[in-house]
This record gives sequence, C-alpha cells and structure tokens, in this order.
Amino acid sequence: MKTLSESLPSRHLPPSAPPDGVAPGIPAYLQQLYWWAYVHPNAVRVFEREWLINLILWGNFRRLRDAALAEFGEHIEQQLLQLACVYGDFTPCIAARLRGAGALDVVDVLPIQLANLRRKLPADLAVRLHHQDAAALDFAAARFDASLLFFLLHEQPEAVRRATLAEALRVTRPGGKLVIVDYHRPAALHPLRHPMRLVLGMLEPFALDLWRHELADYLPAGFAPAAVSKSTFFGGLYQKVVITL
Ligand SMILES: C[S@@+](CC[C@H](N)C(=O)[O-])C[C@H]1O[C@@H](n2cnc3c(N)ncnc32)[C@H](O)[C@@H]1O
Repeated sequence: MKTLSESLPSRHLPPSAPPDGVAPGIPAYLQQLYWWAYVHPNAVRVFEREWLINLILWGNFRRLRDAALAEFGEHIEQQLLQLACVYGDFTPCIAARLRGAGALDVVDVLPIQLANLRRKLPADLAVRLHHQDAAALDFAAARFDASLLFFLLHEQPEAVRRATLAEALRVTRPGGKLVIVDYHRPAALHPLRHPMRLVLGMLEPFALDLWRHELADYLPAGFAPAAVSKSTFFGGLYQKVVITL
C-alpha cells in the first residue's frame, strides 16, 4: 500500500497522546489527531452507533447521506468508488441500490475500519474493500463512473487533501462525477458558529480550512471541470459539492 503522510506542526497535536504500538503506514494526522475515533481498537466499539454519528452531525446524518445518495438515483448501475469508510449505514445504503453491473469499491487506510465495514455488509453484495491510501490510489485512471468523499477532506492536512482530490479526479472517467459532502463555514449568525469553531479547533483543526476556503480551491491547478454545483445544509455548516468531469 502506498501512503502519503506528513508530520503535523505541534499546534495540531491533540490533548492526549496516541496509544503505543500503532502500525506503520498510517497517516500522521490519523495517528496524532484521530486515533481515538478510528485507529484504536475501542474506536469502532464506541463510534459504530448511528445515533452517535447523527448527534455529532447535529441530527443531519440521514439528510447528508441521502443528499449524497440522491446523486446516483434509486438504482445504481455504475462503478462507484467510496473514498474512506463511514460509521453508520452510509455504505450499506449505497450497496442496497446496486443493480445489474453496478458495483461499489471502498478504500480505507485502516484495516480495522475495513473489517468493521465488512461486518455491516451482506455477503452477496457487489462491494469490494481495499486497503489503500486515498491520497495515493492503486486504481487505473478513469476506472470509475463516480467517486464519493463523505466527511474525509476535513480530516486531512492540506497537502493530503489536495492529493486525495487529485486522485479521486484521476480515477473518475471524463463525464463522471465526484460527489463531496463535508463541513462548510456556517452563516454569520448561526447559533453553532462559535461553539463549532471551538470544538473543531480543538479536535479537528483541519476542518476550519473548509470554513476559510471553497473546496474548489484544493483542486489541481489547470483542472477544468465540466460543471461544479454546491449546496449547503443546516445554515451552511455542511456542504455538498458535485464536480462533473
Ligand atoms: C470518512 S472519514 C469520517 C467519516 C465520518 N466522520 C463518519 O461518520 O464515520 C473516516 C475514515 O477515513 C479514513 N481515512 C482517513 N484518511 C484516509 C486516507 N488518507 N485514505 C483512506 N482512508 C482514510 C479513516 O480510516 C476512517 O475510516
């Protein structure tokens, strides 16, 4: 597996240290900032609860999940790529819509997350799981009809975010779509603006990049999409961006 990781400046270190013995090949930001959410063996036991993920998203999990799914229709006959596992029923919902030659490939850099996802999926569905880094994919160019990034980019330092977007675009065919759902800068008078700035600043510092910049700012130089559409949710705290190649 190819990985792209980088060391983090000390201001981005979390309040407590990651556990000893984390495996090599895990990006630095996951080990240092997100070990408690994804890397530690207890992470899956704690967070694989849809009500908890829904609470973290202020009750918007289903709405955001369905906004992403709406891009593909009720019956999916395409080749889809999901970059990174998601707690809850996000992937099972996509998988349940697969028809005919439709297939879903899911990539994650953590074996524990892939194993958790495998347990959530009925065995007979056309879903393949891959241990890969989203920032350095092993797939051929234009391999997929569409790619999907659900709350991954806000976790990544800028260089990794740029590499992930470049890879997602590389493996999606011309005319295909890249669908992104993630954080966004809330409206000036949003009651959660200040609390969320504090919480994200402490726990998910790279998320505030998405408050300061449009996602399009992280696309490769010279990339000319056929179309870009953006919609926001919950007073602007979340966004969906659809890039047509
Ligand atoms: C999609 S994000 C956040 C999803 C959301 N918070 C949720 O409800 O689960 C979490 C996943 O991204 C994975 N991940 C983070 N960086 C990655 C990378 N560079 N390549 C592949 N997977 C990555 C983590 O291992 C984790 O499974």
